[in-house]
Amino acid sequence: MHDNQIALITGANKGIGLTIAKNLAEHGLTVLVGSRDLANGETAAQGIDGDAHAIQLDVTDQASITAAADRVRDEFGRLDVLVNNAGISHATPWEEMPGNTFEERAQSGQLSKVSLDELREIFDTNVFGALAVTHAALPLLRESPSPRVVMVSSGVGSLANASQPGNRYRAMFGAYSASKAAMNAITVGLAISLESEGIRVNAISPGFVATDLNNHRGVLPVEEGGKDAIRLALQEGGPTGTFTDQDGETIPW
Ligand SMILES: NC(=O)c1ccc[n+]([C@@H]2O[C@H](COP(=O)([O-])OP(=O)(O)OC[C@H]3O[C@@H](n4cnc5c(N)ncnc54)[C@H](OP(=O)(O)O)[C@@H]3O)[C@@H](O)[C@H]2O)c1
Repeated sequence: MHDNQIALITGANKGIGLTIAKNLAEHGLTVLVGSRDLANGETAAQGIDGDAHAIQLDVTDQASITAAADRVRDEFGRLDVLVNNAGISHATPWEEMPGNTFEERAQSGQLSKVSLDELREIFDTNVFGALAVTHAALPLLRESPSPRVVMVSSGVGSLANASQPGNRYRAMFGAYSASKAAMNAITVGLAISLESEGIRVNAISPGFVATDLNNHRGVLPVEEGGKDAIRLALQEGGPTGTFTDQDGETIPW
């Protein structure tokens, strides 16, 4: 049995996922840097101070998910932490999206306008991808004395907030927000169905972080955005079925 705790972070080759991986490695965990492009994952893992291993993992590809889970079982025997971080905000490249400004492009995802192909692709990654990886990871998590799953969601997926007329992200509630609302529903459902086994499942919102996801329009650094995912990933014991922001404050579902 591997001595270190083992953490798998999806989409960890850059952005918030890479920050989470770096921080968990600093805390002595063995980190598995999930990356759909293995070379990008290897480059990221080399830049991590600690025990880090790249692992090919495309969350929309069941063969890739199964192979990753098999590799974790063969090499490490269990998983203590799963961070479902991989995500996309749109399927169409920024430069090809309708509109000129960030806001106009973001609003092209509104549910009255978005194409079903775009919506499906976003849901495939953000919703079904996260659930598929969790399903594959469950037998490995069951081998851990303190298993936890962190869902990297978003405050824009809060239906309670989006229903408030004064909410600043309300106008941009679109395909991405809907996918995060669905991820939140999955978080609650997983937390309920895994409660009796002691597998904790919590969702976090990183805040508006400057990454490729938003063409670097975010205002927070990745270190700030990763904070609450790191808190929950490191916490043995604690709550399940929560939704918190980067400062650990509760967000209404
Ligand atoms: N930035 C924000 O303001 C913000 C706010 C709220 C929530 N979030 C959430 O935070 C998470 C990380 O986003 P980020 O801001 O760090 O964006 P990012 O820098 O664009 O990173 C996204 C990561 O997800 C990976 N990914 C995308 N599709 C994938 C797939 N099919 N399989 C595996 N990996 C895939 C990307 O891999 P490639 O490099 O191969 O594309 C990349 O590693 C996402 O879930 C996002 O929704 C971000």
